[in-house]
Amino acid sequence: MNYKITVLPGDGIGPEVVGEALKVLDKVGEKFGHTFEFDHQLIGGSAIDATGEGLPQATIDSARSSDAVFLGAVGGPKWDALPGDKRPEKALLGIRKELGLFANLRPAIMFDELKDACPLKPEKVEGGLDILVVRELTGGIYFGERGYRDENTAYDVEEYSVYEIERIAEIAFDMAMKRNRKLTSVDKANVLESSRLWRKTVAKVAEKYPEVTLENFYVDNCAMQLVYNPKQFDVILTSNIFGDILSDEASMITGSLGMLPSASLATGNFGLYEPVHGSAPDIAGTGKANPMATILSAAMMLKYTFGLSRESEAVENAVKKVLSKGYRTGDIMSEGKTLCTTSEIGDLITSNI
Ligand code: IPM
Ligand code: MN
Repeated sequence: MNYKITVLPGDGIGPEVVGEALKVLDKVGEKFGHTFEFDHQLIGGSAIDATGEGLPQATIDSARSSDAVFLGAVGGPKWDALPGDKRPEKALLGIRKELGLFANLRPAIMFDELKDACPLKPEKVEGGLDILVVRELTGGIYFGERGYRDENTAYDVEEYSVYEIERIAEIAFDMAMKRNRKLTSVDKANVLESSRLWRKTVAKVAEKYPEVTLENFYVDNCAMQLVYNPKQFDVILTSNIFGDILSDEASMITGSLGMLPSASLATGNFGLYEPVHGSAPDIAGTGKANPMATILSAAMMLKYTFGLSRESEAVENAVKKVLSKGYRTGDIMSEGKTLCTTSEIGDLITSNI
């Protein structure tokens, strides 16, 4: 099969880590008899520099005619002084909305080889962690009405419709069915009206999934429980802003932010894939970036959008193999291991496919 992928390297370490993932995809193609056609386009600060716009129309057009979108990272100090609606981050929000990418899957998995990097006591994470955060991505306060009432007062509105809640809840329940049939829905229903609608709607969707055990947590309690007893969680379903916060927390307790991939899915199989870490401008161009999160994002793309499970597993296994042989980038380095550059890690993973 031939797959067309819009590639958006973006800013900072984005181009470096994406480059390594494309090497891996080429090898997967060669080995399993597929061709991946890469259409490179601009997004974020580098797009602003080249065209004056963070999300050029050519990028949207390319994405719409592709099977999937593969992104590095956006943003950096160079563009931090720009007004809110001109910032590189706005391009990321724009592409999510334009492409209808309402379902953000953020797996937080603790790799056995890296368990020493976990900041929690070993007994809290005995046997490893495998949490999937399902974050609503195109609604809520990120996209609600905003503005200034007067020069001293600004507002952003949190708003959810039944339709928006239902479709993300269905994704989360489907994921729970494929995992351990346990779902924690997170809201602030003791205070927010939109959260009360969230909770009511999730309960209604739950009727279609009698095998799944549903729990409702308030967001403050969930944030606390994540560090107190993380092993109780399997799938976490939540809104855009709560998901933004809780997914960073969940990723950190695995000790490996540089390892975590993500998928942002639309209706059907279309999706955008990117590492959870940002553009890390401080190490851009130094060869220190960890490309594994991006390579694992490619594995998610193979599985979720292309339906290539064997190929996806081959990539995950290659990453695990490289880790078990002791190869590391600086962020996950520990005593007695071999420190490698971004491209050395990419080459090692490629040669293990
Ligand atoms: C993320 C990021 C983005 C978000 C920013 C860069 C707009 O933090 O993907 O989690 O808040 O969604
Ligand atoms: Mn975030």
